[in-house]
Amino acid sequence: MSRLNLAILISGRGTNMDQILRATTSEDYPARARLVLSNREDAAGLEAARAFGVATETVPHTDYEDRQSFERAMHEALTRHEIEIIALAGFMRVLTPWFVEKWAGRMVNIHPSLLPDYPGLNTHARALQAGDSEAGCTVHWVSEGVDEGDIIRQARVPVKSGDTPATLANRVLEAEHRLYPQALAEACRYIIARQAS
Ligand code: GAR
Repeated sequence: MSRLNLAILISGRGTNMDQILRATTSEDYPARARLVLSNREDAAGLEAARAFGVATETVPHTDYEDRQSFERAMHEALTRHEIEIIALAGFMRVLTPWFVEKWAGRMVNIHPSLLPDYPGLNTHARALQAGDSEAGCTVHWVSEGVDEGDIIRQARVPVKSGDTPATLANRVLEAEHRLYPQALAEACRYIIARQAS
């Protein structure tokens, strides 16, 4: 079976990364984890990735004078590792059209809301403020507009009375952990089928 070389980009604790890494240990999974890349040297997920035996790289955005030189450095690392698909997993830098174009159709993201509702930050507080009865998460292709790309899959969770942004975030995060490996596999199969045709 064909398997794509996967890079996971993180900025923090990397719990979604962890779930994806576990999924890739199955021979049936349509991607192999080749690289975990972070823009932050202190991202806790880097340690977890190393413990998993996956190559890691850090490209600190603070080392570069502008976004494009930062992204060129990331692009160089991704190319060096022969990456074929990127999963953004809590990667908290907005990407420029230059980078998005380079990886068009080969980069997916997870966002903690039911897009198109609540793109950007503070999604759970905004859902509670609006009195929503449901919340959730979305895996989507990355396009130029932030959190605007085509949706691959979503998962829904109830909002419960007494929820705070933190309790809702935990419930949504559990749904993210189930959703992301499946939705990423779907994206990989789509790319593999496209390459074969
Ligand atoms: C996740 O909830 C993810 O959806 C969110 O950051 C968290 C990362 O957690 N991403 C965004 O808000 C992207 N705009 P993790 O590091 O434990 O996977």
